[in-house]
Amino acid sequence: MHRKGTTPATLDLFAEDTPQPQANEQIGPRSWVLRGFALPWVDRLLPALDSVLTQAPFRQMVTPGGHVMSAALSSCGRYGWITDHQGYAYSPIDPQTGEPWPALPEVFLKLAQQASDEAGFQDFVPDTCLINRYIPGAKMSLHQDKNERGYEWPVVSVSLGIPAMFLFGGHARSDATQRVPLFHGDVVAWGGEDRLRFHGVMPIKQAEHPQLGEQRINFTFRKAR
Ligand code: SIN
Ligand code: FE2
Repeated sequence: MHRKGTTPATLDLFAEDTPQPQANEQIGPRSWVLRGFALPWVDRLLPALDSVLTQAPFRQMVTPGGHVMSAALSSCGRYGWITDHQGYAYSPIDPQTGEPWPALPEVFLKLAQQASDEAGFQDFVPDTCLINRYIPGAKMSLHQDKNERGYEWPVVSVSLGIPAMFLFGGHARSDATQRVPLFHGDVVAWGGEDRLRFHGVMPIKQAEHPQLGEQRINFTFRKAR
């Protein structure tokens, strides 16, 4: 457990496995890492995730340039983010099943809203949640999230499972990037003037998480339309 700021006097007030509130870390004018924010939600998130994945299983998608993405993807909500030879898009239909994407589980929505409130973005109502699954070695190249109709709403990103090194850049691909380690239960939110900042994930290192095994799951909440 990554706990900080605890003194010996406070340490014994808490059971070892009690999730501790931790200081929020500002990584941009309107960008925050909310350490451990999702921990109290995990036991409700995982069954909801299972149900979503039963309806819309993980699959590997191809970029417009013809590369198979190393992360496997699914979505829930009114829209799902997809990529194929024709480009990137949001679709109300899962191309693999021909059915609408599974609804956004209530617990996903509530977590996204509480996290966005905490990061200073009130009244966020996401209509899509991209679900990325990384196994060791998988990565996400630097990119901007810009397939949404507008950029007035934040991106809220929840990390579960084994750790990742998140790269948070600037507004140009060549700008320097901050390396932000992300652990199980961490949430990152960025919006406003930071909404279009480049970001990515370095190749995931081999590790095992007690609940999720050898994988990292990321939820990305956005307002597509
Ligand atoms: C993404 O930007 O699509 C995913 C980011 C992450 O997995 O943390
Ligand atoms: Fe992204």
